[in-house]
Amino acid sequence: MIKIKAVQFLRMENVMKRISIAIDGPSGSGKSTAAKNLAKLLNIEYIDTGAMYRAAALKAIEQGISIDNDSVTEMLENTEIDFSNGSILLDGVDVGDRIRTLEVSSMASRISALPGCRRKLVDIQRKIASKKSVVMDGRDIGTNVLPDADYKFFITAPLETRARRRWQEIGERDGVSLDEVREDLAKRDKLDTTRALDPLVEADDAVEISTEEHGIYETAELLRSYVK
Ligand code: DC
Repeated sequence: MIKIKAVQFLRMENVMKRISIAIDGPSGSGKSTAAKNLAKLLNIEYIDTGAMYRAAALKAIEQGISIDNDSVTEMLENTEIDFSNGSILLDGVDVGDRIRTLEVSSMASRISALPGCRRKLVDIQRKIASKKSVVMDGRDIGTNVLPDADYKFFITAPLETRARRRWQEIGERDGVSLDEVREDLAKRDKLDTTRALDPLVEADDAVEISTEEHGIYETAELLRSYVK
């Protein structure tokens, strides 16, 4: 009898095992869409770490904070960044619709290179993943935030494809040309891949997937096919 209970308990543990899925890739590669859809398919939480850097950038812009490590670290000591029902909250306010401008994108890239900013946000990201199953996307998830993630994916697409996609999303709204979007993406690629701290690199054990070759739903299904 006791033996049966132990087996049942082990089975339950197995069923309830917390899983973490790390998805990294450059801006506009389609990693967020893929991550969001994968989380939906698996019925687990999606954590957009780029949105956290963007929220911090938004606050720095709005408060006119100088972009150096001490000033940004001090600002973040008095800042709450969290998620609620998939929405990004900055000091308790949903800022989801204010963080997708080119100005915030460029500032997010700059402040994400600061050690104090990374330390604070990585700490929050690890805490979230220690409590629940997550699909987390960003630049350093598989290499730094969750090096022991159960699954790691690296999502790519050529610069031209990424620029066109981003331009279709924000070009008309923000009044920016395809050339401006391409230039901004190239600049951010350079900053993200060459910064000293946690640069964007593919983890050795990540599965690389190009969204150039797969549609949105096909990509999510492909990712799911790896998750046992
Ligand atoms: O994924 P995104 O474009 O929303 O990210 C915004 C910026 O934040 C991007 O320029 C790089 C930075 N970032 C980072 O350094 N580390 C992460 N884990 C996620 C984003």
